[in-house]
Amino acid sequence: MAAPDTTLSELIDLGGRTAFVTGGAKGIGAAIARRLIEAGATVTVGDLDPDVSGLAEAFGARGVVCDVTDTVAVQAALDVASTDKPIDIVVNNAGIFPTTGPMLEATDEFVHHMLDVNVRAQYSVSREAANRMSGGGSIVNLASIAALRGGANISAYSASKAGVVALTHAFAHELGPRGIRVNAIAPGIIDTPGVQEQLEPLRAGGLDIDKQIAANPVGIAGQPDHIARAALFLVSDLAEFVSGHILVVDGGSTA
Ligand SMILES: NC(=O)c1ccc[n+]([C@@H]2O[C@H](COP(=O)([O-])OP(=O)(O)OC[C@H]3O[C@@H](n4cnc5c(N)ncnc54)[C@H](O)[C@@H]3O)[C@@H](O)[C@H]2O)c1
Repeated sequence: MAAPDTTLSELIDLGGRTAFVTGGAKGIGAAIARRLIEAGATVTVGDLDPDVSGLAEAFGARGVVCDVTDTVAVQAALDVASTDKPIDIVVNNAGIFPTTGPMLEATDEFVHHMLDVNVRAQYSVSREAANRMSGGGSIVNLASIAALRGGANISAYSASKAGVVALTHAFAHELGPRGIRVNAIAPGIIDTPGVQEQLEPLRAGGLDIDKQIAANPVGIAGQPDHIARAALFLVSDLAEFVSGHILVVDGGSTA
């Protein structure tokens, strides 16, 4: 436990720690991986993207092709991540976006897939990783402000992220006694490749989407590093007494 006179640089020092970040080839996951590396952690990124190895190496991480819905692939990726030292940090970032449309038209297959990738996989990755954490650790789950308020046409996504909130609360209780803290970040709109893909049709339709993205009390567009800084806080010893928390990072838009 950190002594009261611990310095700030000691509190955010991840030297000697081993981290696994899902969906870290790009977007928020890549930004988080970069910050963890900057703080001294050894980081392995697991991502569906076949180019993950090169993409991760470019910022100093190890990349492993891994679909988070495939538990055998997750186990293999965690084995790679813990080659030198047991896992200390897991960031459940991989997720898919709400190309849903009206709930009246959503198919069961679509809803099932959304829940499988966004919630069930976070459950499995957390279980597999926690079983490999011998000296305590920290898990950070990517939720969303969509879990905290309603919205048309994103029902399956909202439900999946509300599931992440519930998992975070439950796992904090269950894993706390093993020295593992579990928290979540609920981002507002963040400018990532995934979001751009979703917004392109709206922009093409004449909507000034960029103005809307920055329409929050802070008045700036959310960037991946805004979320990475929050993740760095949560995994560091600065947050030693923080567990089961849902940290909203949205420029105040849900305030
Ligand atoms: N960007 C936002 O506005 C925003 C807002 C709230 C929450 N989030 C959450 O943050 C996380 C990251 O979002 P992003 O905007 O960076 O997304 P992104 O689409 O830009 O990047 C996601 C990454 O995850 C990978 N991925 C997708 N499915 C995967 C799977 N089954 N297995 C392994 N990797 C997989 C992709 O290949 C990609 O590299 C997601 O969980 C998302 O729901 C994002």
